Amino acid sequence: MAIVCWDGSLKVGVDIVDAQHKYLFEIINNMHAKLARGDAALALADALDSMRTYARFHFETEEGLLALHGYPGLAGHKAQHRELLSALEGFAGAEPTTALAHQILGYLLTWLSAHIQAEDGRYAPFLAEQGVS
Ligand SMILES: [Fe+2]
Ligand SMILES: [Fe+2]
Repeated sequence: MAIVCWDGSLKVGVDIVDAQHKYLFEIINNMHAKLARGDAALALADALDSMRTYARFHFETEEGLLALHGYPGLAGHKAQHRELLSALEGFAGAEPTTALAHQILGYLLTWLSAHIQAEDGRYAPFLAEQGVS
């Protein structure tokens, strides 16, 4: 069973961004499924690897879009993105225990949900005003 389902409360209103957000939650759901099967090492390795690659890709998409349209909060938004990327770097190399995997799963879930609802949600009306969808 999925631990998190994308729903309308997470919608930013820009198709490519919403599609990428859904994929980020898929990574978390895959991690949860592997953890439920008792494979913490695999769950952690795959999730950290996928997150590092895909979160970076998503942040580049989002920051490019915000830069293109002159979003005034871009610098602060970028700083938030860097925070997740450096946390992911910090997790790498730690001993892959079940407890750590659960802790990181919780962190990713909380960070992503909060960031999308609060921070991405802040630029949504700005892009909507510019006709971006
Ligand atoms: Fe985002
Ligand atoms: Fe963002």
